[in-house]
Amino acid sequence: MIRLNGTMRCSEEGILEIGGVDVLRLRAEFGTPLVVIDEQLVRATCREYRTCFERAPGGGMVLYASKAFLTPALCRIMESEGLGLDVVSGGELYIAREAGFPMDRVVFHGNNKSAEELEMALDLGIGRIVVDNGSEMTMLSRLAQDRDRPTDVFLRVTPGVEAHTHEYIRTGQIDSKFGFTLSDGSALQAARDASGDPFLNLCGFHCHIGSQIFAMDSYRHAARIMCRFIRDVQEACGATVAELDLGGGFGIYYSDGDTPTTIQEYADAVVIAVLEEAALLGIPVPRILVEPGRSIIGPAGTSLYTVGTIKEIPEHRKYVALDGGMTDNIRPALYGARYEALLANRAGEVPSETVTLAGKCCESGDVLLRDVLLPPAKPGDLVAMTSTGAYGYAMASNYNALPRPAVVLVCDGDADLIVSRESYGDLVRNARIPERIRGCS
Ligand code: LLP
Repeated sequence: MIRLNGTMRCSEEGILEIGGVDVLRLRAEFGTPLVVIDEQLVRATCREYRTCFERAPGGGMVLYASKAFLTPALCRIMESEGLGLDVVSGGELYIAREAGFPMDRVVFHGNNKSAEELEMALDLGIGRIVVDNGSEMTMLSRLAQDRDRPTDVFLRVTPGVEAHTHEYIRTGQIDSKFGFTLSDGSALQAARDASGDPFLNLCGFHCHIGSQIFAMDSYRHAARIMCRFIRDVQEACGATVAELDLGGGFGIYYSDGDTPTTIQEYADAVVIAVLEEAALLGIPVPRILVEPGRSIIGPAGTSLYTVGTIKEIPEHRKYVALDGGMTDNIRPALYGARYEALLANRAGEVPSETVTLAGKCCESGDVLLRDVLLPPAKPGDLVAMTSTGAYGYAMASNYNALPRPAVVLVCDGDADLIVSRESYGDLVRNARIPERIRGCS
């Protein structure tokens, strides 16, 4: 039995519904491939995060990690749920700004922010800039000086915690492109530099150990290391740092074998670790910030595809080809990620056939799901892949010149477009033919 998230349910006729809207209606109105976002589930998860973390001493703060999936409509939801935003580029900052998101609730990350991006952040008066490295610190201090206004910063620290997750999404280990290394003293030196700089207000430290993490011990470990670092900074330069941003990474259920804990358990793990360690070290308890992305938007997203061709290789495999693929979800091809899927228009039927769901890209590796048990699929059937809300559309491409899908927000029987489907015209919008070769034969 596959897991249905949030408001997903199966009607008596065997049709999948999300947010009270049946998927056949969604296909008729918006076409496929389609990304469907369950608003009620997004809001419920935001509330759970807030309740769990705001109980922490100093009132914790939850920042939604925009990189998982950002649209102006999602910004509005995050704002109304009282979350902040973690952005990593001028583009994400622009989207937040366009959506009217309060800039003082924005934290800006990135290992290679350009001068333009930093200027944009300073001019918009965003909450915190997370300084990632020495060259950035120098550049930011100069830009703040040009404006004659000190800016609030965090320093990103690489705590040397090996998180048990895919190599590409691990970030806290020593050999990482992100942040100041703790073990070789670079982080302490950076803290000295920042606290002595009149144009940088050192408000706190940040670390992020990786993504899709189930082991709460990795979080506890990182939290303790960071508290010790705060103590070292206090001793070395007298600076009392009041905020500790522990990044994101809370793992979700995608398929069999994924064993997430609850958000409450996660919050308890980090809050208790920080409280205990602060008491042990005799430092003031820092205000805790977290940056969940995947766990807020992942389970709330479902991808709908229409079945096209079917190819059976006797005694080998049956390929059921869908009208999307690695262009709208590269995670299976890139990380070997596994999902669950169902025949959304025949959800009441007994799954009896093991098939492989192939994408439509010209690439053998474009397989969305291998060996999935479904009722015998026919062309025109509707496949729903669950928990695709995070890093799906956000990492979408136009490979093979496939237009990106539409995104729809569903709630209480309403379905509203929040991102239109790209058109063929969009594919050539930025293309130019130089005069020199125009009309050449
Ligand atoms: N904060 C920082 C500094 C991060 O680098 C990330 C994710 C997050 C927060 C949010 O982590 P989350 O709660 O979403 O796990 N494309 C990969 C994931 C890359 C994650 C990058 N950083 C994937 O599809 O699995």
